[in-house]
Amino acid sequence: MGGAEATQWLLERARLAPGAAMLDAGAFVGAAARAAAARGARAVALDVVPDFLAAGRALEGGRAVDWVTADARRLPFADGTFASVWCLESSIFPRELSRVARATGATLCLGCEAPADGRGGLEAFLEEWAEYGWRLASHRPLSLEALATWRRCEAELVARRPHFEARYGTRGYLRQLDHLASLVAMYERGSAGHALMVLER
Ligand SMILES: C[S@@+](CC[C@H](N)C(=O)[O-])C[C@H]1O[C@@H](n2cnc3c(N)ncnc32)[C@H](O)[C@@H]1O
Repeated sequence: MGGAEATQWLLERARLAPGAAMLDAGAFVGAAARAAAARGARAVALDVVPDFLAAGRALEGGRAVDWVTADARRLPFADGTFASVWCLESSIFPRELSRVARATGATLCLGCEAPADGRGGLEAFLEEWAEYGWRLASHRPLSLEALATWRRCEAELVARRPHFEARYGTRGYLRQLDHLASLVAMYERGSAGHALMVLER
């Protein structure tokens, strides 16, 4: 969500010194890790799917990154390994991401589903991170962009039904369509949102 421009926004705020250790958890093809490595960070891209990492390694800048297949629920790193921990993904595991970040002088960069309900959800979200010593440094709501993206995805799924149905089967297709329809509805009524956030401790 937000594409390369969102990654740049986070990079400008991540306080990554040359040689600093950066973790991209849930990296997919490691776009953020490759961008951080291009700025001189020692970047690690971690994902549970090895094929995504293999594809990322083959992309531009991929050889400058370390690629690790693991589950973000149990990260294979010692406490305090990273100066900057990134998770551009909505399955976030606060305790584990916090454990591998440096105790002080660290940043945490998130691009995720974030409460946007105006009923205290965002405060509750931040309070959970505060339990691990993080405070919000920068926040960029992306809910409108996310809503536009989900609407486009839903329209494309409908327009290209024969293609997707042949590939994933009728049940798989309908499940995905239901999922997108409920995302669109949630974003329209403001009970879910998306944001970039940089936290510090
Ligand atoms: C929405 S994509 C994020 C892509 C990437 N961060 C980006 O910005 O382009 C989610 C990624 O998280 C990975 N993922 C989901 N759950 C995970 C987990 N428990 N541990 C590690 N990776 C996970 C998925 O395999 C997928 O590649």
